[in-house]
Amino acid sequence: MKMQDKQVRWQHFDSIDCLRHAVCDSIALSASRAIAQSGRFTLVLAGGNTPRAIYRLLRDLPMDWTKWHVYHGDERCLPADHEDRNSLMVEQVLLEHVAIPAHQVHHMPAELGPVEGAKAYAKILQGLGSFDLVLLGLGEDGHTASLFPGHALDNSDYAVPVFNSPKPPAERITLSQQRLNDAQQVIFIVSGAGKQQAVDQWRTGVAIPATLIAPAKGVDVYCYEVALA
Ligand code: 6PG
Repeated sequence: MKMQDKQVRWQHFDSIDCLRHAVCDSIALSASRAIAQSGRFTLVLAGGNTPRAIYRLLRDLPMDWTKWHVYHGDERCLPADHEDRNSLMVEQVLLEHVAIPAHQVHHMPAELGPVEGAKAYAKILQGLGSFDLVLLGLGEDGHTASLFPGHALDNSDYAVPVFNSPKPPAERITLSQQRLNDAQQVIFIVSGAGKQQAVDQWRTGVAIPATLIAPAKGVDVYCYEVALA
């Protein structure tokens, strides 16, 4: 395996704007390559607040949106129109502004609850193959998607239920570690001094949930407001 594979490649940006544009450029490059290679681009979106402004930047890209297939890394078990749903955020800042065919947008049916919703989403992912690009955030406790510290790993399916999440709401659906690792490219988007401890733990070999994400080609971590000592 080549040296850079399975590695964590850290990049620090001096402004949030630079980080956002760098992520947007990387997504655009990944999309162009995937569409040229296979005629489609399969993208897993991160939830939370950090990616919101990046998704807004995406909509101005000169892109063949008809080739995009959008998935989520995790979702909160709330009504589909709840303001805290990751799917609602993505709809508002991106999907309502670009022409991705509706049948190519795959929100997690988290309104069904963690067990039924995870089962339904796992079915949607069957036969899909490796994701072209997975975007992930990092929580202050080192979680990513809805893989939380101290939670037993569940790789029983592509999407799995989460109970007692320390980050509200308690019930969620997440792609499993195994499914998140089946990706050509993974980019973590990390912004805010609150993430410093998690980054320090990661860089010193402490097994936080983010370290579970180790696809064959390694991961890229784009950072702002965290020191890479
Ligand atoms: C969620 C996210 C979660 C998020 C991190 C970072 O649904 O909450 O998937 O994993 O990415 O908690 O969140 P921020 O980007 O808002 O700090």
